[in-house]
Amino acid sequence: MEINLPVLNSGDIVVRKLHKRDARILNEELAIGANWLIPWEATNPYGRTSRIISTKLMLKTARKGTLIPSVVTYQGQIVGQLNVSQISWGSLSSCSIGYWIAERFAGKGIMTTAVALMIDYLLLDLGLHRAEICIRPENKKSLRIVEKLGLRFEGVRERYIHINGEWTNHNCFAVTKEEIPNGLLSKVRAPIQN
Ligand SMILES: CC(C)(COP(=O)(O)OP(=O)(O)OC[C@H]1O[C@@H](n2cnc3c(N)ncnc32)[C@H](O)[C@@H]1OP(=O)(O)O)[C@@H](O)C(=O)NCCC(=O)NCCS
Repeated sequence: MEINLPVLNSGDIVVRKLHKRDARILNEELAIGANWLIPWEATNPYGRTSRIISTKLMLKTARKGTLIPSVVTYQGQIVGQLNVSQISWGSLSSCSIGYWIAERFAGKGIMTTAVALMIDYLLLDLGLHRAEICIRPENKKSLRIVEKLGLRFEGVRERYIHINGEWTNHNCFAVTKEEIPNGLLSKVRAPIQN
């Protein structure tokens, strides 16, 4: 069953569910940010990779309850995406988180706050037990997000995801509900304004 993501916010930073009408802006940002994003984007090892987001397809998958597709907005403007995938219940009750932000909004702490909001929602409100984020060891910017939030390093998954044309190792970080009785948002400093 589809998970009905409420609007999550901390000041100017909002995480909300994806709408079909977000496709145009997201695809414009993906096109503008090709050099910024391609080194970290999943690719198809068996054929051509499309860099066009199909919000229709994402919303269809979301109806099965295994994906929460969301957008991050800053001061009312869409700045990136934050998706929760591989949602499973029962004895795992776990999920995986992925994200990107447009380059001109980077460095303000926006995605760090958005991830904290989402993890607090997933573990403290929705009832999942564990969330993980897998990051290429070369991706220093993304590694800062999990460092700042204090996620636990679980280990290396070798040749785990096909990224930018090759099977790449990922460092896996995770958090379970027991580790964050007061939530993650309290660890995040206010975003840098300009
Ligand atoms: C990883 C990413 C989402 C971080 O989002 P963000 O909103 O910039 O996060 P933060 O503002 O907390 O910054 C994280 C780190 O990025 C680096 N950074 C800071 N300003 C930056 C800028 N203007 N440009 C690039 N990187 C910057 C810093 O190392 C920062 O850590 P710090 O707070 O200790 O200085 C963003 O860099 C991104 O979308 N990168 C490309 C896609 C990607 O890597 N996705 C994740 C795959 S696992």
